[in-house]
Amino acid sequence: MGWFAQFGRELPWRGIADPYAIWVSEVILQQTRIEQGRDYWLRFMERFPTVESLAAATEDEVLRLWQGLGYYSRARNMHAAARQIVDLGGFPRTIEGLRALKGVGDYTAAAVGSIAFNLPAAAVDGNVYRVLSRHYGIDVPINTTKGKRTFQSLAQDLLPPGQASLFNQAMMDFGATWCTPKSPRCIDCPVADTCDALRTGRISQLPVKEAKVKVQERHFSYIYIRHDGQTALRRRPAGGIWQGLWEPLLIEDEPLPDLGCPLTLLASGVKHVLTHRILRADFYMAQPDCRPALPQGYRWIDEREVSDHAVPRLVEKLLQLVNS
Ligand code: ADE
Repeated sequence: MGWFAQFGRELPWRGIADPYAIWVSEVILQQTRIEQGRDYWLRFMERFPTVESLAAATEDEVLRLWQGLGYYSRARNMHAAARQIVDLGGFPRTIEGLRALKGVGDYTAAAVGSIAFNLPAAAVDGNVYRVLSRHYGIDVPINTTKGKRTFQSLAQDLLPPGQASLFNQAMMDFGATWCTPKSPRCIDCPVADTCDALRTGRISQLPVKEAKVKVQERHFSYIYIRHDGQTALRRRPAGGIWQGLWEPLLIEDEPLPDLGCPLTLLASGVKHVLTHRILRADFYMAQPDCRPALPQGYRWIDEREVSDHAVPRLVEKLLQLVNS
């Protein structure tokens, strides 16, 4: 905490007591680096300054503001949780109450509860796993149930009474800026004297992660059809990736359709990494003379209105090629 007073990061949501603002920052930062997350947070808070304003928005608008951040279930859950909060008449002020909100897990409940209300809950994110595993020389894999329990309970034991907010943020910042994965600043580390990994030469071996089975690749072909100033899009159905986002004609594991005109290849093998999948995509353009019949779910949309639709990052790349 002494280190934090001197070296803690200045972030736009620091020093704000509003639980809503803190919650938004934590949801954004779950899968997004601080540099990118900062701008999204500022834009999000400008458009939706209160939980009531978020609850009153349409899902489409929330998704559009979220566009480019990925992991869109975060935005959908946050929107649903905003409505829960409004129905409750205000932000829950207990860990259990926070935990009951859509999309709020142990980490987010602890982060929001501690930072906004100073509730005594340790918020253990990837940074904290790293700091603790190194300092205490713990080689239990952090991505196992046993590892999660071990580090959660250690962090909880370390929490100084009445200082959960400060402590959690200090641990996260310290992991993010000092005790980094590749080149930690052990030379000027305030707790080097007591660091087990440093003493035993295991800095680069900790934390331990259990190898996951290799993710399978999926192959997508997207065809951007241009006919009479319109293009074909569909909203992705529930249940898969990118639920609720829009996309052009998608062909997966099937031959390309005959649209009555040649297809122009715009790009091939475009790689897109998701949590449990790697996608490879080919982008095509088709400009048929006659309007082709579309598979179910697709509809014709004026090309000028395409930008009103929330699309996955991968599709955004295709649209950039089409418009360049
Ligand atoms: N990463 C996610 N939440 C954070 C926080 N509150 N402080 C520092 N880094 C974070």
